[in-house]
Amino acid sequence: MAAGAGPGASGAPRHADGVAANQSVPRHVAIIMDGNGRWAKARGLPRAAGHKQGAEAARKVLRAAGEAGVECLTLYAFSSENWRRPETEINDLMGLLRFYIQHELDALHKEGIRLRIIGDHTAFKPDVVAMIDRATAKTAGNTRMTLAVALNYGARNELVKAVQGFAAAAAEGRLAAEEIDEARIEAALDTADLPPLDLLIRTSGECRLSNFLLWQAAYAELLFVDTLWPDFDGDALHAALAEFAARERRYGGL
Ligand code: IPE
Ligand code: IPE
Ligand code: MG
Repeated sequence: MAAGAGPGASGAPRHADGVAANQSVPRHVAIIMDGNGRWAKARGLPRAAGHKQGAEAARKVLRAAGEAGVECLTLYAFSSENWRRPETEINDLMGLLRFYIQHELDALHKEGIRLRIIGDHTAFKPDVVAMIDRATAKTAGNTRMTLAVALNYGARNELVKAVQGFAAAAAEGRLAAEEIDEARIEAALDTADLPPLDLLIRTSGECRLSNFLLWQAAYAELLFVDTLWPDFDGDALHAALAEFAARERRYGGL
């Protein structure tokens, strides 16, 4: 079990909301849910079957995270680069998203889970956009846990949008260069109202971030596991949380 004082010494980096350095349960876990296609291929199934099983894994992991006391789970479901995939696969993913919202929304709401979207989901088909907007509005007041889903998300684009906002405010005389600090940048990101990222997991053995939460990952603990996403479950999450608890976060200190 990790122990130690928080980054409280003056000059030590700490988040604006004063997160403790070595809390044993991460407040915010993000997952790059990778390996659906390989899972399907290994079984001689179409890639869509892997995505379907992946959505089932997401359902289980959300419950396990909530029970473990994780405040926020962020799931990378569709990157801004995933438009490069064949249209049939994109349509399959959109179909799954529709199905998941239709079948899970009431349960999420009853369990006090707030649905948040990061990225620009407005690029999706109008019926999907409307469905997502209804779901986020319905659950907006829930406080037990947040499920943030990254849809058409890219961290570089998130930073570009923040910089454009600052430039526009500066041009209008509403913002001076010296006023731009880390807190303001964080507040301009899609994740502004989420807790600081503590643990970032990627499944399927790939060891890269693929344009996910680049700013937010600065001091997150990174965990790369070989398990393909459709095989990831509550036990796998518990193992990841145990690994997190055993890490010592130093934030550049001793
Ligand atoms: C992750 O699984 C799901 C999405 C990116 C939507 P992949 O579809 O990337 O699966 P692999 O990497 O091809 O196995
Ligand atoms: C990252 O997985 C995106 C999601 C899991 C949604 P990819 O499979 O798209 O990433 P690359 O192409 O291997 O980097
Ligand atoms: Mg992949």
